[in-house]
Amino acid sequence: MKRQAKNQIKAKISAPGAPDSDVIIEGDCLAELAKLPDACADLVFADPPYNLQLGGGLTRPDQSVVDGVDDDWDKFADFAEYDRFTRTWLTECRRILKPDGAIWVIGSYHNVFRLGVALQDLGYWILNDVVWRKTNPMPNFKGTRFTNAHETLIWAARSKETKYTFHYDALKLFNDDLQMRSDWTLPLCTGAERLKDAQGRKTHPTQKPEALLHRVVLGTTKPGDLIVDPFFGAGTTGAAAKRLGRHYIGIERDPTYAAAARARLKKVTPAAAEDLMVTRSKKEEPRVPFGQIIEAGFIRPGDMLISPNGKKARVRADGSLAIGDFTGSIHRVGAHVSNAPACNGWTFWTHLDSKGRETSIDIFRKQVRKTMSAPAAKA
Ligand SMILES: C[S@@+](CC[C@H](N)C(=O)[O-])C[C@H]1O[C@@H](n2cnc3c(N)ncnc32)[C@H](O)[C@@H]1O
Repeated sequence: MKRQAKNQIKAKISAPGAPDSDVIIEGDCLAELAKLPDACADLVFADPPYNLQLGGGLTRPDQSVVDGVDDDWDKFADFAEYDRFTRTWLTECRRILKPDGAIWVIGSYHNVFRLGVALQDLGYWILNDVVWRKTNPMPNFKGTRFTNAHETLIWAARSKETKYTFHYDALKLFNDDLQMRSDWTLPLCTGAERLKDAQGRKTHPTQKPEALLHRVVLGTTKPGDLIVDPFFGAGTTGAAAKRLGRHYIGIERDPTYAAAARARLKKVTPAAAEDLMVTRSKKEEPRVPFGQIIEAGFIRPGDMLISPNGKKARVRADGSLAIGDFTGSIHRVGAHVSNAPACNGWTFWTHLDSKGRETSIDIFRKQVRKTMSAPAAKA
């Protein structure tokens, strides 16, 4: 298992035509994305400028100045300029995504609706919007509006046809056996995780918590995948990617932020390859037709299967079942004997061997699946 996991990751990095990964490119993302090959990325995570349009400095009741986002990278002349910029980088991201790739974008009420329209107009297929509920949001100091206590993430597939990655069962386990919901309650990035300069000031005004990215990376990419972040900032996407055995390309135009991200990433230790395997969803498991169980010799033609209500069906060489004159697949015959519109034959039928021992046929399916995912024998 250990060697298999490592090899899978290695194979991805060295694929022909793959760009250099685990790099931070200093430059404008519009120019730098254009240099990346088509269909090279498994996921894009983008935390673009918010276009906050702050009018004048914001102060607290004690007149101290709020450390908001008033940097040049967040300034656009008007909505039209912001939309042009947004559509250009989103178009490039779609080009560099593999057909089965997906994108996450994060924004606040200032920009997230514009991002959503652009995504849909450009052919992406929205899968969810996730609300990141902040446990420690900045108060609304003037008391003129509700406390702005969340940001919205949009998760979209490259197209409607995309077979995107989603580790449903792993996320359910992560969430103590409860289906993961689209509202995530997490604190802002504070404490030791927050990068600071020599004077103790925040290195980056909008550094995201790594926990947010952990969930995104764990749930929607596989080990060895390539994640591109066109607005890398302090490198949070890279940190989560590296820790979880994924690859990253970060683009950041501010040299101070890029340097801080580089230093941060050097200190991140990836988890061991064998610890990165997540619980697979049933849908991801290889399909095994019932005929293969017969082919593999677990069940022989002429053997009997028994239903929960005691009905016996005879197994035929082609993988069909016969009960009286009625024949069909394990599912069809299962539905027939239970008088139901549909039936999952795998969990319905039990095999009776010559000594009268009963085994659920799903056990045989599991054994066949094991042989399908075992590492290839050495020549
Ligand atoms: C909202 S911040 C991203 C923060 C990041 N997610 C983190 O956790 O640190 C946006 C970043 O995009 C960068 N940026 C803005 N416009 C850019 C552009 N055209 N090309 C590359 N980087 C850009 C800014 O310098 C800023 O660091």
